Amino acid sequence: MTTITLPGLIDVHTHLRVPGGEHKEDFASGTAAALAGGVTMILGMPNTNPPLTTPDVLAATRRQAQADIRCDVGLYAGASPADIAYLPALAEQATALKIYLNDTFGKLRVEDLPTLMACFQTWPRHKPIAVHAEKQSVAVSIGLAAVYNRPVHIVHVSRREEIELIADAKVQGLPVTCEVAPHHLFMDQTDAARLGPLGDMRPILGTPDDVAALWEHLNSTVDCIATDHAPHTLAEKHSATPPPGVSGLETSLPLMLTAVADNRLSLSRLIELMHTNPRRIFGLPEQPDTQVEVEMTPTVIRNENLFTKCGWTPFDGREVAGRVARVVLRGAVAFENGRVLAQPGNGRLLT
Ligand code: NCD
Ligand code: ZN
Repeated sequence: MTTITLPGLIDVHTHLRVPGGEHKEDFASGTAAALAGGVTMILGMPNTNPPLTTPDVLAATRRQAQADIRCDVGLYAGASPADIAYLPALAEQATALKIYLNDTFGKLRVEDLPTLMACFQTWPRHKPIAVHAEKQSVAVSIGLAAVYNRPVHIVHVSRREEIELIADAKVQGLPVTCEVAPHHLFMDQTDAARLGPLGDMRPILGTPDDVAALWEHLNSTVDCIATDHAPHTLAEKHSATPPPGVSGLETSLPLMLTAVADNRLSLSRLIELMHTNPRRIFGLPEQPDTQVEVEMTPTVIRNENLFTKCGWTPFDGREVAGRVARVVLRGAVAFENGRVLAQPGNGRLLT
């Protein structure tokens, strides 16, 4: 059995559910799941309840995070038409701005052009803008990046037409980056049919041709692998109105290691996608004396082994090629032998 040492992984797309969704996940449980997945730094999304669109809510959420996080966390501010005047104040507390252009969980949405323009005009140039953009919204986002000559990061790209448009934009030298979620690489619409609500997320699972396109671009156009860890309880998923989203922090690295074992991805490219590029694109600090030790051994993903509070993954029962054996964060063992050792308060909150 081979042991591999990786840098601490960075997930730029995690839903931690504080405030308002603590029964799904909280800072202590979400960061435990991160460490169990080899992730030592995460960026938390703003579609909470209330959302992270005002300085007061963001400040209160940061105080809660500071007390509870086991690994390092930065928070996104959310763009919303009613709170657009707060953007400069939000920028002082947030790592990046998130704009939701398409339908998904929660009410946070930007559907009018003046709000979009205000985001690109007033959000500080040195801080990233990330957009949830599907289909034509990808073109809208790239157009704004071109007009305002500032970088835009497109989250969870899932369709052939989207990744091909982004590839074309990059050929033109436009400042666009993107991420792909492992569930869009390892599942397609047949899994959606098999899994029912447990296979429903935004964007929805693609066709086999969409999945093939993402793999074709994994060594070129794709900048980051991001989990889109979006925990909801099983009761919620089996209700009459199931929310979209699936957990991902603990399955992302084992799935990508399977791609390495199958010679679909090199280890150095995995490190680029899950550490180097996220760090560069989002301007994140270095974590000294931090590493992830992985054992390349066949392992079956099991719900009962998860640390996420929601307690389930659509990959339950799937065999993968590796597992996280040990995580060291700033010189201290944070995860070992299936146990999370880092305590709440151990993590650093990014400014
Ligand atoms: C996310 C959630 O539950 O917050 N759901 C999802 O299906 N991905 C929202 C999102 O990232 O779009
Ligand atoms: Zn998301």
